[in-house]
Amino acid sequence: MKRRDFLKNASAFAGITLLPSSVWAFAKNAKLRTAHIGVGGMGASDLASISSHGMVEVTALCDVDSNNLAAALKLHPSAKTFKDYRKLFEQMGKDIDAVIVSTPDHTHAPAALMAMEMGKPVYCQKPLTHHVSEARAMRKMAEEKKLVTQMGIQIHSWKEYRGTAQLIQTGIIGKVHTVRAWSNKNWGYDGAAPAGSDPVPSTLDWNLWLGTSPDRPYKDKIYHPGNWRKLLDYGCGTLGDMGVHIFDTPYTALALDVPETICCDCRKPNGFSHPEHNVVTYEFPGTDFTAKYLQWVWYDGTDAPKKHKELEMPKGEKLPEQGSMFVGEKGRLLLPHIGYPKLIIENKLEKLDFPVLEEVDHYHQFVDACLGKTEASAPFSYASRLTESILLGVVANRFPNEKLHWDNSAQQFSKEEANLLLDGNYRDF
Ligand SMILES: NC(=O)c1ccc[n+]([C@@H]2O[C@H](COP(=O)([O-])OP(=O)(O)OC[C@H]3O[C@@H](n4cnc5c(N)ncnc54)[C@H](O)[C@@H]3O)[C@@H](O)[C@H]2O)c1
Repeated sequence: MKRRDFLKNASAFAGITLLPSSVWAFAKNAKLRTAHIGVGGMGASDLASISSHGMVEVTALCDVDSNNLAAALKLHPSAKTFKDYRKLFEQMGKDIDAVIVSTPDHTHAPAALMAMEMGKPVYCQKPLTHHVSEARAMRKMAEEKKLVTQMGIQIHSWKEYRGTAQLIQTGIIGKVHTVRAWSNKNWGYDGAAPAGSDPVPSTLDWNLWLGTSPDRPYKDKIYHPGNWRKLLDYGCGTLGDMGVHIFDTPYTALALDVPETICCDCRKPNGFSHPEHNVVTYEFPGTDFTAKYLQWVWYDGTDAPKKHKELEMPKGEKLPEQGSMFVGEKGRLLLPHIGYPKLIIENKLEKLDFPVLEEVDHYHQFVDACLGKTEASAPFSYASRLTESILLGVVANRFPNEKLHWDNSAQQFSKEEANLLLDGNYRDF
């Protein structure tokens, strides 16, 4: 089933009245009533951060794991609980004002698009979606319905990263021709797909966890929690997981859109999981802040990054385990993940006058934007393009060492087999 049909069926299942966003409004001075889908792992942290805003009332909690749901309910005892987000929307559609989606990646778009179709503002974890087509659909729906949206890249709002973007845009290292970015995390798996099945824990609804993804027997420790990141059907590997954070500042600073070519150096595809080591080289069209073209090279896996002269550090300095290096005509700027940048000119550290900036809370900014007091800084108009760029690299790891050409306006690769990976097949569940 294609995404559009999934949405139609799901709305019918939930008996949802689809309200245009202009009809939806909530009374001035009322609290923002939030619904949280996925409340374990990062969802627990999202719940704590959103609910720490004084104008939030946590109204609904949803999780397919009853242990995680019970822990969240303890903190918000007056919230209604659900294990199926479609039932939440059906029963609480009129009683919620905003939705937070903190599930594994394959459920981001199915849940968020339903919420948006009902006219609800959405805070959705990163990467925005699992498929390129979904990122485009989320952007389109947010625009059409004029919804407040925010992707969960909280460091986008931190001073270190906003200040770095400012420094690059003021030309501290001149026009940038290359960005090298890396993470030594390993959200890939090079082993064989597991055989057989394990009993599904009594606390987990496996069918709902799978959601729109293909039916598959349950195996302990392979999927839930967290390890789904390594697997094609649910996550986006290390590039999708960490790349969204680490690429975010270069992406903003250099005002990039989507790449024209992508080439991935990794092992052969195995049809089950993402590779444990990737080097992905992108070429972006130039912008006001770059040379004619911008080359962006991503490295991941425990050995990342590979040696390169543009990553050599001044004496006594070490490369961080995760971060990015901007390489410009006048020097280099190293941005650790997480921390303040360092300026390197002719392989010496130079003093940096860092801009004085106010603290911004990414979560509270979303709540305030819903309340009409400010604007979100990582709305889906931005997040969908960043996510698309990342996901094009994830697709490229199915075609090792082939340079793929991406046509932004046609929304197609020149390679037909790669186009088949831009959209998902949605299971009726
Ligand atoms: N912004 C960040 O710094 C950050 C950090 C970690 C994770 N994340 C993102 O958060 C999301 C979740 O990651 P995680 O590490 O918490 O994963 P996880 O597997 O540890 O937790 C996911 C939670 O969602 C629940 N869930 C799964 N499917 C569901 C469904 N269909 N409906 C309702 N609940 C469902 C699970 O039971 C669990 O409680 C991912 O998109 C990940 O990329 C972001």
